[in-house]
Amino acid sequence: MKELNLNAIPNHIAIILDGNGRWAKKRLQPRNIGHRKGAYNLRDIASECNKLGIKYLTVYCFSTENWKRPDEEVNYLMNTPIRYFKKYKSKIAQSSIRVKVIGRRDRFHKELLDTIIELEEITKDHQGITLTLCVDYGSQDEITTAVKQICSDVSKGKLKIEDINEATITNNLFTKDYPPLDLMIRTSGEYRISNYLLWQMAYSELYFTDVLWPDFNANELHKALIDFQGRNRRFGGLKKDESK
Ligand code: IPE
Ligand code: IPE
Ligand code: MG
Repeated sequence: MKELNLNAIPNHIAIILDGNGRWAKKRLQPRNIGHRKGAYNLRDIASECNKLGIKYLTVYCFSTENWKRPDEEVNYLMNTPIRYFKKYKSKIAQSSIRVKVIGRRDRFHKELLDTIIELEEITKDHQGITLTLCVDYGSQDEITTAVKQICSDVSKGKLKIEDINEATITNNLFTKDYPPLDLMIRTSGEYRISNYLLWQMAYSELYFTDVLWPDFNANELHKALIDFQGRNRRFGGLKKDESK
């Protein structure tokens, strides 16, 4: 197997961290045990990404569709950042990780909202990786909101229709200040995107693995990165030696 090239580490990776429920089921445990293990795994993978020099890690924690799940599971997931933050606040404050949360915020309860604001505030000057948690995030919702904002700018005369271009859309998304997405990983053997970063992944490489999220360890991350490093990214063009 090839070795990981530390000089060709992607800037921005995204992960659809899927398979917590199946991980727990395999062990005859309730689904929430899988979510708990998944949260610890996120801590470990974020710190590995930080060590490797990845600048942005954007992870899918709760989709706009996940509200359809039973109340008990929704509550557990919504309270995970609060529990985690209470327990690890000083460690988070001392780390170099900058935390951001993107998604709708209008359906969060107050304690969650306060936790998110505090989490972002105490890490805002950290110089390491930017770890973005996508919570109540849906890409179609994000694009719809962007379209509404652009229409409002047009109707107020702040923007002309003929000046709308791809950058206008990009600049109205939650990820407006983020570098392009290089690699999108989905765990758990599902081959779909489930409403995640649809605009942002226009030219990202896709990597699917059967490994369930709680088992996706540093070694699995390295495998994904090695696979990525073997891809030929053409962005619609041709490399010099391919044009003959
Ligand atoms: C991913 O694990 C976490 C969330 C979607 C919140 P799942 O809960 O989807 O686990 P599976 O897919 O049922 O195994
Ligand atoms: C996608 O996983 C959402 C998150 C990982 C947060 P799901 O488990 O909700 O996706 P589907 O339902 O299998 O498409
Ligand atoms: Mg799932």
